[in-house]
Amino acid sequence: MTLTADARTDAAHSTAVPPWWRQAAVYQIYPRSFADSNGDGLGDIRGVTSRADYLAELGIDAVWLSPFYPSELADGGYDVADYRDVDPRLGTLDDFDDMVAALHARGIRVVVDIVPNHTSDQHAWFQEALAAGRGSAARERYIFRDGKGPDGAEPPADWVSVFGGPAWERVADGQWYFHNFATEQPDLNWDNPEVRADFVRTLRFWSDRGVDGFRIDVAHMLTKDLAEPLPSRAELDALPFDGTHPLIDRDDVHEIYAEWRKVFNEYDPPRTAVAEAWVAPSRIPLYARPESLGQAFNFDLLQADFDAAEFRRVVSDNLTLAEASGSSSTWVLSNHDVVRHATRYGLPPLPGERGRDAEKHGSAWLRAGGPESALDREGGLRRARAASAFLLGLPGSAYLYQGEELGLHEVADIPAGERQDPTFFRTEGEEIGRDGCRVPLPWTAEGSSLGFGADGAHLPQPAWFAQYAVDAQEDDAHSTLELYRRALKLRHELQTEEKLEWIETGRDDVLHFRRPNGWEVVTNFGVEPYALGAGEIVLSTAEDASGEVPGEATVWVRTA
Ligand code: GLC
Repeated sequence: MTLTADARTDAAHSTAVPPWWRQAAVYQIYPRSFADSNGDGLGDIRGVTSRADYLAELGIDAVWLSPFYPSELADGGYDVADYRDVDPRLGTLDDFDDMVAALHARGIRVVVDIVPNHTSDQHAWFQEALAAGRGSAARERYIFRDGKGPDGAEPPADWVSVFGGPAWERVADGQWYFHNFATEQPDLNWDNPEVRADFVRTLRFWSDRGVDGFRIDVAHMLTKDLAEPLPSRAELDALPFDGTHPLIDRDDVHEIYAEWRKVFNEYDPPRTAVAEAWVAPSRIPLYARPESLGQAFNFDLLQADFDAAEFRRVVSDNLTLAEASGSSSTWVLSNHDVVRHATRYGLPPLPGERGRDAEKHGSAWLRAGGPESALDREGGLRRARAASAFLLGLPGSAYLYQGEELGLHEVADIPAGERQDPTFFRTEGEEIGRDGCRVPLPWTAEGSSLGFGADGAHLPQPAWFAQYAVDAQEDDAHSTLELYRRALKLRHELQTEEKLEWIETGRDDVLHFRRPNGWEVVTNFGVEPYALGAGEIVLSTAEDASGEVPGEATVWVRTA
């Protein structure tokens, strides 16, 4: 066995006690699908409060709530009609305060989602812009242009939206507005000082209410260079993403975050923020720097296949990037936008497929209508448990998505009439969309909507959800829920310095690393068992680990 010192981050360049978020386990709640307290089929804020003990017992350090603001739900709440209120269907600001108090009382921090790229078309500003007409100050808060062609009947450019379909929409008086996402999500004009001032107000509003941090939605898309003539779609596609692209990851977006950072630092402790920025790895540190948002998602594990070499490369690269940024690394396997990782790892290759980007593969497989019978549920979950325990052993922050602690699979067979995701409708079903990972959680194996609420669930729960219910897993030492609970509890002992050392295994399908507290994490991506050296196994994703790591399993070993 040889030791190779590899990438590491150094907590020492922060203060003596590192800030809480550097190695936090953050649990993402998709509020409308978490727990429904009033029986209307939609999860709500009181539902979260009612599960505060569950969250505490799980052992997470923080929750991140996807949007709970008033919304017409054109994009699952990411179309915000009012940034400083709670959707009446989900509760009130008082309910929110109660939830924060209940979570804080249990030592759980609260992170909320800020959606600054676009508002809902129901937002007062957009309604005002429609009424005020062309040339008005109200239209200047958005991106309005005249169309092309003799009567302006053609869009200003042939751009397509991220969700499919055209990115420009015509309004009654003939002008067009730009929307990167759904038609109901008009993009804001971040050159407008009023827009900038209003978001600072929103950040203060929630910070003053005790919120500990913010997740910034599509943080890389706010600023734009829309000087005429606008480029064509083909011209846009040919441009590099080096900070000068007219629409994506522009250098000037960081002026906004520098201002926000000053606001965050007015609070004690400073409010934290994490960027959702789908940008080239080399540009992640720009968002993660302490003088910017302070942390950024790294989606590389989520896009990797269950493969030792890929996992090692991702970990090494990202620890190096984190060190360069002064932040800690983040790790993600699932969230509300992607096919759940238990399912991704259980899918057969598609015919003719070469190489696979795991996340895209999951969506492609579902799109191709892959039959349920083709999914290896057991194998997918076995690999998911191994990957999750690997992730939880890494230095840095772990972002977990509700339901992954139950080992939930994607729900593939939601009838078209019950789907909600705009990507499904805007691509006429060619993209199956993200509803399959947003189905309300099963809390009990029996009863109305499996304990989610008293009367139904807004997306249909399949019969097989029952066996993944919380009450079916509690106290079963081998269940996925108990595995997460144990790992999250032990993790606090692991997260001392933000470092790891790789231990060479002589196998290309086994990863083995040591943390500064002397514990080791070993993941066997292959099928042949891997023999362990000295030490006590404190965690195992397989039932039968003793002296060795069975195939497709992770163990944590206490060596000191
Ligand atoms: C982010 C969100 C996604 C949403 C999109 C537009 O990618 O995670 O759910 O649809 O932004 O707001």
